[in-house]
Formats: sequence, C-alpha cells, structure tokens
Amino acid sequence: MRQLLATISVITLALAAPAAQAEPIKIKFSHVVAEQTPKGQGALMFKKLAEERLPGKVVVEVYPNSSLFGDAKEMEALALGDVQLIAPSLSKFDKYTKKLQVFDLPFLFDDIDAVDRFQHSKAGRDLLDVIASKGYKGLAYWHNGMKQLSANKPLRVPKDAEGLKFRIQQSDVLLAQFKAMNANPQKMAFAEVYQALQTGTVDGQENTWSNIYSQKFHEVQKYISETNHGVIDYMLVTNTKFWEGLPKDIRATLDEVVKEVTAHTNKVANDYNERDKQRIIESGKSEILKLKKEELAQWRKAMEPVYKQFESQIGKDLIEAAKASNKQS
Ligand code: LMR
Repeated sequence: MRQLLATISVITLALAAPAAQAEPIKIKFSHVVAEQTPKGQGALMFKKLAEERLPGKVVVEVYPNSSLFGDAKEMEALALGDVQLIAPSLSKFDKYTKKLQVFDLPFLFDDIDAVDRFQHSKAGRDLLDVIASKGYKGLAYWHNGMKQLSANKPLRVPKDAEGLKFRIQQSDVLLAQFKAMNANPQKMAFAEVYQALQTGTVDGQENTWSNIYSQKFHEVQKYISETNHGVIDYMLVTNTKFWEGLPKDIRATLDEVVKEVTAHTNKVANDYNERDKQRIIESGKSEILKLKKEELAQWRKAMEPVYKQFESQIGKDLIEAAKASNKQS
C-alpha cells in the first residue's frame, strides 16, 4: 500500500511539474562597425524584433566594433559555429568567390539606388547563393553607402594620389583600383585603420561617410574628396546548417524579421550617411572637397583599366547586368 501511495505521489508530482523549459537558441551577431551606423542599427533591430517575437525561444547577442571577431576571423568563426550571423562588406568575400567583386568595380554604380536595383535583379539575387557550396547562406543585402576618398593632402585628380599609401579592404579589385592611380594600396582590417592613419602607416583610405565619422577618421585626415566612386554594402550571412536546422516556426519568424530589418536598414542607410557628412562638416576637422565634373572624369578614366583586368573573373554578363541598373535612374 505504502509502495502504491509513493508511486501515485511521484506520478502526481511529475504531472504537476511544469514541462522542462528548453534553453533559448542563442544567436551571436558579430560585426566590425560602430552601433550608430546602418549595419550597427540593423543588427540591434534584428535583436529587438527576434526577441520580441520569439520570447524565451531566441536570444540575440550583438557584438559591434570587432569586439568578438574582426575582419580576418569572422567568416571562419561562422563556419565553425562560434557565431551565427555576420554582415561583412561585399569586398571581403574574395577568398570565397570572385563574383561579388563586381560590387568593387570603380564608378560602376551611379548611386545607392542603382546598387539597390541591381541587388533586386535576378543576377543580383543569384549572388546571394554564390558561396552556398562553402556552407554559407546569404540572407540579404544591407546598404551602407557610396565611398569617399580621404587623405592629408587634397585629392582632386588621380595624379594627387600618386605614391600615397592607401588602406583598402580585402579585395583584389580595390588593390588594382589604387595601383591604376600609381598609389600603394595596403589590405588592412577595419579595426586597425584609425591607428594606421594616425601614425602615418598609411596616408589615406576610402570609406562611407558613416564609417568615416563613427571611426573618427575625419579627425586624422585633413581632406575628404567627395568622389562617390564605389560602394560599401553588406551581405547578411549565416551558417547554412545552423539556419536550416532551426525549428521550422522559429526559422519562418526569423526570415520575416530579416525581411523587415533589411527593408528598414536599406531605407535609412542614406540618411545616416547624409547625417554623418553634416557632422563631419560641423566638426571643422576635415575639409570636404567637391570635385568638378572634369576632375571626376579623370578619376573615372584612371580607374578604367580595372574593368578589363577583372572581366573574365567576374563575368562580362554580370558586369553588364550591374551597369544596366543605372539606366533607370
Ligand atoms: C571597411 O573595412 O572599411 C568596411 O567594410 C567596414 C564595414 O563593415 O563597413
């Protein structure tokens, strides 16, 4: 009898106990820029929406400013499962594919709207799958903006850049772009740029207004030429096995969140860059040089050989598809 009562009470207790709470899925999102940038804000919005819509099921940790992984390590960390989301600049995939280097071709896109149209085209969307065979899943493109050129001397025409050392991202197209101007490009992680500019390891760099302002490059560069000669945009990337291994309902919600965050980020990226351009002007620390049409034409011409050099690697069709995105503007 005693035995029976004990068994009954164990069963009753087991039934009354709440179902064991499953641990929430942890998503680490690592990136290299400051929080007050399009990508920085996009990452925070992803965290907010994901946690709001999947309470207790998903926790997102955002690591900005290369605080978890810098440029050199983030792709590897994603492959190893040490991080689940990253959004490297499209210039940083050249170890994995040459196709994405289309985005680095100088003066290819007239503005960020043209970039957006290309990314929405079939050719652009297909590129999200270009590193699928390596276990990476491209979820979306996020905008930053157009690049400007900075140095401690005024750069009005390509000749002014001759012999100067420029920091570049990890991209052979960008290497060729600066070589075409007889300058000395140096590949360098984003986290090292401020110090390299400050100590004179390099003389100049190219970047968007939001990166220049948030990294304080304008405090160590006397001039910024408004060239809009290229683009810095991102691919939001995850590990295919991780993403596809998520419970179906969770993945569907996260896919929806990615869509919303992407739409918002891409809508406001331009405003961030305009805001930061104004802040640089107001700081009085760096002079912004507006270039004349003829001067811009000289940069365009000087960088032209890069197209021939990379045409076969990137693909003529892809370059043409990207060019076509300008026509509607
Ligand atoms: C850079 O390295 O200059 C940029 O790609 C940084 C970034 O992520 O915007």
